[in-house]
Amino acid sequence: TKVLGIEGTAWNLSAAIFGDELVSLHSNPYQPRSGGIHPREAAQHHASVMKEVIAAVLTDPGEIAAVAFSQGPGLGPCLRTVATAARSLALALDVPLVGVNHCVAHIEIGRFATGCDDPITLYVSGANTQVIGYLNGRYRIFGETLDIGIGNGLDKFARSKDFPHPGGPRIEELARGGGYIDLPYTVKGMDLAFSGLISAAQESRAPLEDVCHSLQETAFAMCVEVTERALAQAGKDEVLLVGGVAANARLREMLQVMCEERGARLFVPERQFCGDNGAMIAYTGKIILEHGVTLQIEDSRANSHYRADEVAVVWRTEPQK
Ligand code: ATP
Ligand code: FE2
Repeated sequence: TKVLGIEGTAWNLSAAIFGDELVSLHSNPYQPRSGGIHPREAAQHHASVMKEVIAAVLTDPGEIAAVAFSQGPGLGPCLRTVATAARSLALALDVPLVGVNHCVAHIEIGRFATGCDDPITLYVSGANTQVIGYLNGRYRIFGETLDIGIGNGLDKFARSKDFPHPGGPRIEELARGGGYIDLPYTVKGMDLAFSGLISAAQESRAPLEDVCHSLQETAFAMCVEVTERALAQAGKDEVLLVGGVAANARLREMLQVMCEERGARLFVPERQFCGDNGAMIAYTGKIILEHGVTLQIEDSRANSHYRADEVAVVWRTEPQK
């Protein structure tokens, strides 16, 4: 079975075909001319490159068993553009439509790519910061940000310092040369908050290297703390790191130290599967299809607040203990 997947929840329009392996993957990212992502501009970008992106992967339309698309969460205009394209394509090819939760897709491609089985997932991207684990047929959200996603926070700080977008890589580079200063650390139970930290970093008069260093140390320590608590509470021994911020070497290092201390293992997918990509939608769409779940056109509306725990995870059975 081969499934076409289309991802376009935010900045990246990306399509892929997944069979037993990844068959093809093509992306066309939207680059904001200035500042952050403008949802309507991003959607216009997706619409304007949709044909090119899909044509690049769809060499043999007759072999496609279903069209999968990112149904949410994400930016409304972007989601609607992708849903419209997926519906028309499914109708034209006369194949079923499969709706995929974007967060669940990050986890499933991560499990596929790294071979881990039953991890606590730390999902750190622009808009999302969540700690997720599988329990009784659902991906449960153990903890999450109460305000902004960690990546958007880093990007916001970066913009205020005139770094190019996205800001994460530049902050990482500067952080290597910096020392530690105290910044606000906010973990409430299992949840996190970043906006106080970002404002304090923006306002700090310390040398920029020190601020970048401390911003990373503080934000990442918060994520590691919640991940560690989720591991302990759920009794799991694997950690999966996904999302664009997973590119950060210091975050990986901090998670690695925590995992070693707990006798757990850290898994990080190769880069092409970490950020938003069509392969994760095609792959997850394929396993959903193979378990007999498809979408009727009338149920295929985009859902910008679609949460991972709304998905019945029919393709997983309880892990053998
Ligand atoms: P989502 O729609 O899932 O929220 P997204 O659209 O934000 O995802 P991703 O590719 O998952 O896209 O993540 C992008 C984020 O990753 C940006 O905020 C960017 O600054 C951040 N990022 C990229 N590289 C690094 C890095 N080396 N260190 C820290 N953050 C990074
Ligand atoms: Fe994502």
